[in-house]
Amino acid sequence: MSDTEFTPEPQLTGHNYDGIEEFDNPTPGWWTWLFVGTCVFSFFYFILSLTGVLSAEAAYEKESLAQTQAQFGQLGKLEPDAPTVFRLSHDENLMKIGATVFQANCVSCHGRSGEGFAGPNLTDSKYIHVRKISDIPEIVKNGRANGAMPAWGNRLTSNEIVLVASYVAGLRGQNKPGKPVEPNAIEIPQWSGGSDATK
Ligand code: HEC
Repeated sequence: MSDTEFTPEPQLTGHNYDGIEEFDNPTPGWWTWLFVGTCVFSFFYFILSLTGVLSAEAAYEKESLAQTQAQFGQLGKLEPDAPTVFRLSHDENLMKIGATVFQANCVSCHGRSGEGFAGPNLTDSKYIHVRKISDIPEIVKNGRANGAMPAWGNRLTSNEIVLVASYVAGLRGQNKPGKPVEPNAIEIPQWSGGSDATK
C-alpha cells in the first residue's frame, strides 16, 4: 500500500458552497516569498516614513533650501541702500536667510521674534536711532551706544548685514508683546523704497 502513501488523496478544506468544494493546496513558494518580501519591505518603509525623509513636505523643504542657497550664491553685492533693503524685506525666500542671521546673532538681546530684551523691541513703529530704512544696515554695521548695540561690520559679511537689516525692516508693525517702547524712541514715517536723497 506504499502507492497511497506517496499520492495521498487531495485534502479538502471542508468548505462547501452549493456543492462546490475547495482543495487545501499549499500556496506556491514564489507567492509566499513575495508576501514575506512585502512584509519586510513595509516594515522598513514604515520606519523610514517615521523619520520624515519620505514626506512631500521634506522634499519641498529640501528643494526650497537648495533654491534659496543657489539664489544666495547669485546675489552679487547687495547695496545697503533704501531700494535694496525695502525690496529684500518683501522677498520671502531671501528673508529666510535674514531670519537665520537674526536668530544666530540678535535674539540674545532683541528676542526670538524681535520683541526686545536687553535691546529694544524691533516690532513697533518707534525707533531710537532709525529714521529711514537705510539707517538699519548702517546701525547694524557700526553699532550704537558705545557698543551696547554691537557693531557687526567685522563679524558679518556685507550681504548678511543687508539681509538681516531687511529682515529687521520687515519686523516693523508686527507689534509683538515684549519690551515696551523706549522713552527716547519716536514714531517715524512708513518705510520708503525711494532713493536716500528723498527719504
Ligand atoms: C548685546 C546686545 C545686542 C545684540 C546682540 C544686538 N543688539 Fe541691536 N541693540 C541693542 C541695544 C541695547 C540697542 C539700543 C541702543 C540704544 O539704546 O541706543 C540696539 C539697537 C538696535 C537697533 C536700532 C533700534 C532703534 O530703535 O533705532 C537696530 C536696528 C538693531 N539693534 C538691530 C540689531 C541686529 C540686526 C542685531 C543682530 C545682528 C542686533 N541688533 C544685535 C543690543 C543688541
